[in-house]
Amino acid sequence: MDAIQNGLIFGGTGKLGTALSHAFADGWNLRAVGGKEVDVTDKAALRELMAAARPRVVFNAKVIGGVDACEQAPGLAYRINTRFPAHLAELSEELGFTLVHFSTDAVFPDCAPGRAHTESSVPAPLNAYALSKYGADCLIPAITPRAYVLRLSVQFGERPAATQFLERMLEQALEGAPVLRVASDVVCSPSYSLDVAQRVRGILEEGLPCGLYHLANAGQASLFELVFAAVEMLGLSTRVEPVPSATFPAQGRRSRITPLASEKIPALRPWREALADFCQTFKAARAGAR
Ligand SMILES: NC(=O)c1ccc[n+]([C@@H]2O[C@H](COP(=O)([O-])OP(=O)(O)OC[C@H]3O[C@@H](n4cnc5c(N)ncnc54)[C@H](OP(=O)(O)O)[C@@H]3O)[C@@H](O)[C@H]2O)c1
Repeated sequence: MDAIQNGLIFGGTGKLGTALSHAFADGWNLRAVGGKEVDVTDKAALRELMAAARPRVVFNAKVIGGVDACEQAPGLAYRINTRFPAHLAELSEELGFTLVHFSTDAVFPDCAPGRAHTESSVPAPLNAYALSKYGADCLIPAITPRAYVLRLSVQFGERPAATQFLERMLEQALEGAPVLRVASDVVCSPSYSLDVAQRVRGILEEGLPCGLYHLANAGQASLFELVFAAVEMLGLSTRVEPVPSATFPAQGRRSRITPLASEKIPALRPWREALADFCQTFKAARAGAR
């Protein structure tokens, strides 16, 4: 792949969008479509934007995330998490771009301890977030063969604001919280968003067939184990305490054991190795900000 490739990212300000911008910084011309630039529920407006930009690839990392948020606004979750990606799939058929859409381990029920969900595992969404994401997983391949649907598990990584799980925990530890209580019965495949974004680039540049893929760092961990490891790697004195997830009030039914593995592509490097790199970056960014 020699010529500069044009791409558009929806959700470019988010966790994954930030990582995609880094991973595709050279050799690609990726433009993030700002949240206010176009009404993504308006297909005609989207068509106009695409026709002018003529992207070869469109990345959709835009999401109404969080189970509570989607339980409170299921209509919004449907419009952004299901209908918008379906519009993108229709436009990919019409205009010929490749769609790269991101999905989630939350579409799955619990798997047996020690096992992981692969691309052939059967989803069973339990809440409005999971259902809205699974809707897109089903619609996209039914609409276009030009799409990748890439399912991810819990991400850690750089983001302009520390609004997501691990980063929130680390900010609390850095602010001197003596104890962090973290669920030990929620098990995932912790993944570094930068590793994920680099693999996405590899998938496109190697020309892997379109379709469904699970992308995650190798291994699995409870949220407690993830936070414990990060606090230890950063040399912080905060005590990390395992508690059941029922400790925290939450809306919607949730699955708890949803690590991901792929039967199509190799796993990314082990999550602890990736976490160590992230912790170095996190530490350097904090030191630079002081
Ligand atoms: N983070 C994780 O742990 C995780 C785990 C599994 C799967 N995933 C999947 O990975 C993809 C990217 O997730 P992410 O963590 O990068 O997301 P994020 O950082 O929470 O948000 C991504 C973007 O979505 C848009 N957005 C957020 N709230 C919105 C709202 N209320 N209305 C309209 N737009 C809104 C914003 O983009 P703009 O303002 O630029 O439009 C935001 O930058 C999603 O498909 C998600 O399901 C993430």
